[in-house]
Amino acid sequence: MATDERNDPQNGGLAAVRDLLDRRHFKAALRLLDSGELRDMPEHDLLRAAALLGRRRNEEGLRHLRRALARRPDGVEAMSGLGQALLQTNDVLAAVGWFERALAVAPDHPGGPAALAQACRRDARYEDAIRIVDAQPGAAGDVDLLYEKAISQSYLGDAAGALATYEALLSLDPEHAAAWFGSHAPALQTLGMEEALRRLWRAVGCSGANGRYWAFLCAYHRLLGQEAEAVRIFREHVAGNPKRLPLVESVTAVQPHLSADTRIFGMSANLLRHALSRAAVPGMVLEFGVRRGTSINHIAAVAGQAVHGFDSFEGLPETWVNGPQGLLSTGRQLPPVRPNVTLHAGWFEDTLGSFLRERGEPLRFVNIDSDIYSSARTVLTALAPRVRPGTVLVFDEYIGNRTWREDEHKAFQEFVRDQGVAYQCFAISPFTKQVAVRIDAIRGETGQAGADAERTG
Ligand SMILES: C[S@@+](CC[C@H](N)C(=O)[O-])C[C@H]1O[C@@H](n2cnc3c(N)ncnc32)[C@H](O)[C@@H]1O
Repeated sequence: MATDERNDPQNGGLAAVRDLLDRRHFKAALRLLDSGELRDMPEHDLLRAAALLGRRRNEEGLRHLRRALARRPDGVEAMSGLGQALLQTNDVLAAVGWFERALAVAPDHPGGPAALAQACRRDARYEDAIRIVDAQPGAAGDVDLLYEKAISQSYLGDAAGALATYEALLSLDPEHAAAWFGSHAPALQTLGMEEALRRLWRAVGCSGANGRYWAFLCAYHRLLGQEAEAVRIFREHVAGNPKRLPLVESVTAVQPHLSADTRIFGMSANLLRHALSRAAVPGMVLEFGVRRGTSINHIAAVAGQAVHGFDSFEGLPETWVNGPQGLLSTGRQLPPVRPNVTLHAGWFEDTLGSFLRERGEPLRFVNIDSDIYSSARTVLTALAPRVRPGTVLVFDEYIGNRTWREDEHKAFQEFVRDQGVAYQCFAISPFTKQVAVRIDAIRGETGQAGADAERTG
């Protein structure tokens, strides 16, 4: 900016607003923007939107961004701002669209590819996220791009690839707490628990590290039977902290049900593969909650039989934690799946009854990944007559969430109580929040001992 432009009171005011936004002083930025002389500036809407979004006043922020875009339909800042705002409101589908438009208009816009990769990753389009990163000439030197790639590789079950990407990132930024933390999961799969713990300790040692990492250290030590260390970490870093307690409390609730052969996992694909390998009862393999098909394709790769997936593809039927109804929707788009997968689109309430009436088989393996209590309850109630001793159930949101007591955990505990079920948990993943349980006995709702339960005695 030339000296006379800087001395212009309006430009000086804009610079002051930008400075406040950079320092995350959103309230002060709003006060300055409201003060009058900046109101007619073309940048007013964009800056006001940034301040409002910083204050989590998302709807108002979105309104200003749309106004900025109406004034300048090719405005890249407004498009990216809309993408960020929609990500903040969990509307990831729409966010992807705006980041794509921004990148088409300005391929060199700083942070554009990383923002699009992040949106694709949050929309569970992991291959797309990796493709976007790999297409950037400077990706090898860009921490944000490498981070998106590593997380996506983890979700796709590529432990070695994820670890290599985290290593590349950490060589650029050795104090990247989230990368040390994220890398503990593939390290657990490929290098073992000791290395996973070393990475977690490295993560908590980074300045600005998320305090929730302490809960993971505490949970792992507890699961490993290293109770003195677990208690020490709990007292010093977890107790009384509402964001750290849920993981430790939920792991502690599962502990009495752990089998002697329990294994601890870092990645979903590995836990699912292991759980299937232990599901020996002949019968159906089902998944509830398919979304973009990541887990059902992991399951189908090793099931050695037909796999059925159920999903509305319209997202959650009700609000959950801070997410709106419709969260996780694919816009009714069905994902590409392996040839042994059949998808049943619709609400579980509408699709499961007729599916079961057409088939008399028991259950070998069920992956319940539909997040909320009511969906898990619907599924477990309908499936109860097909559960046998030896049936394996995997729950994807069983531990770790703030609302864990009210979600899948509650639905399963009600099922256990109502159906007279005995079970053991034989796989657990603090990182992915999954548990796998093996049914040992089921009496059934009538209260009479079922033939199968009796046979196993
Ligand atoms: C977390 S996502 C599933 C993720 C998937 N397993 C994966 O590997 O990425 C949860 C899915 O459950 C679906 N869902 C939740 N409750 C449902 C219900 N009652 N009926 C049909 N679909 C439901 C949502 O549409 C959403 O796609």
